[in-house]
Amino acid sequence: MRAETSANDKISVALIGCHGMGWYNLTDFLKVPETECIALCDVDQGVLNDKATQLQKLTGKKVSLFSDYRKVLDDRNIDAVIIGTPDHWHCLMTVDACSAGKDVYVEKPLANSIGECDAMLSAARRHSRVVQVGQQQRSGQHWQDAIATVKSGKLGTIRKVKTWGYFGYGSAQPRVPDSGVPAGVDYDMWLGPAPSRPFNKNRFHGSWRFFWDQGGGLLTDWGVHLLDIPLLAMGVTVPRSITSSGGIYSYPNNAIETADTQAVTYDFGNFLLEWDHAGGISRGQYGRHYGIAFIGNNGTLVINREGWEILPEMDNDKPRMEALPLQPPDKADHEKHVANFIDCVKTRKQPICDVEFGRNSAVLAHMGNVAYRTGNKLYWNEQSRNFGPDEKANALLKPSYRAPWKFPG
Ligand SMILES: NC(=O)c1ccc[n+]([C@@H]2O[C@H](COP(=O)([O-])OP(=O)(O)OC[C@H]3O[C@@H](n4cnc5c(N)ncnc54)[C@H](O)[C@@H]3O)[C@@H](O)[C@H]2O)c1
Repeated sequence: MRAETSANDKISVALIGCHGMGWYNLTDFLKVPETECIALCDVDQGVLNDKATQLQKLTGKKVSLFSDYRKVLDDRNIDAVIIGTPDHWHCLMTVDACSAGKDVYVEKPLANSIGECDAMLSAARRHSRVVQVGQQQRSGQHWQDAIATVKSGKLGTIRKVKTWGYFGYGSAQPRVPDSGVPAGVDYDMWLGPAPSRPFNKNRFHGSWRFFWDQGGGLLTDWGVHLLDIPLLAMGVTVPRSITSSGGIYSYPNNAIETADTQAVTYDFGNFLLEWDHAGGISRGQYGRHYGIAFIGNNGTLVINREGWEILPEMDNDKPRMEALPLQPPDKADHEKHVANFIDCVKTRKQPICDVEFGRNSAVLAHMGNVAYRTGNKLYWNEQSRNFGPDEKANALLKPSYRAPWKFPG
């Protein structure tokens, strides 16, 4: 960050990873009047040029274009970076950005492993950086109202919180053969610290999320959003035990490594938190294809991005609490989330989804995947931040980085 930045200055941002969510983020950054974008970075020249043209149409300005994010970090005029790359890049880019003195808006899940999440939290704290994680639901008013209701105790004893995601896209695509790298793509830099693999369009833009090297399937893609809310509402971070089962049950011939069907149970000692996903179909629970249900003795609060409601328990015809009909959603959550980040860059306050909160929900999601991949019932040791004597699970705590990339110390 520029040493001379004052509360009245423009905040100059750069976007790294411009294709999907990165671009969506940038469009909301541009709505914050004191923000300007001065650089774009992508390893796909086609994406980079297309977004540069769109940005010029929106702002009337040309910006610097980069294909190597380290050049972005060398630019002293850039105050903050938005990281919209696949998950396997989040850690190195965030750690490097923090050590270069930049503030960071990084997409969820915070990283692709538990160890990387921990390294990012340390880097943010070591360099006193503002790091906001893209779990925008936290900024939505209807989420905040529902969380306050859960905390009020009105639902009675909550013994179970269900979270679920039934998504058509979650069964991935039919397999296709490996092919040549498309023109204009620096595939080695796209792979970065991940293992070298032949190019396959099914592991590239968008669909990398179904392969362990880059992502963790629906559990890390949607799970971090939905698990984040129970962590906040129930005031917990670490479960007592984690179990998971599932498999590739729906379309076994599709290009997918992660589970298309999966259930995870987190036991917090006084309540169960459940995750349940199914790819390729979209009929979930309580008539919603994704959501959260806080199940109390007096009633169940059901919520997703379309709104929230309370369904009371009944004693014969008498409700144990007042029913709440469907409440409208706050659709401006993402804009507010971005604005909160810019405000914190200026004031140095902690953002609403600080790196530690992003760490906690990403770690929870990864714990579910480690339980699934090992088949073991897991017990987390908070002091050593590993699964105690479970060596099979500990082996999945962090990836081996491909040279010349080094796991951040
Ligand atoms: N907050 C949300 O609601 C939300 C929604 C969707 C996606 N996401 C997250 O956003 C991130 C991006 O997802 P997506 O679907 O947009 O992915 P995508 O594959 O569509 O886009 C990723 C972009 O990053 C670029 N990239 C890859 N390596 C790079 C590197 N080394 N340097 C510069 N650019 C590089 C790619 O070329 C591509 O343009 C993921 O972490 C995802 O989980 C968040």
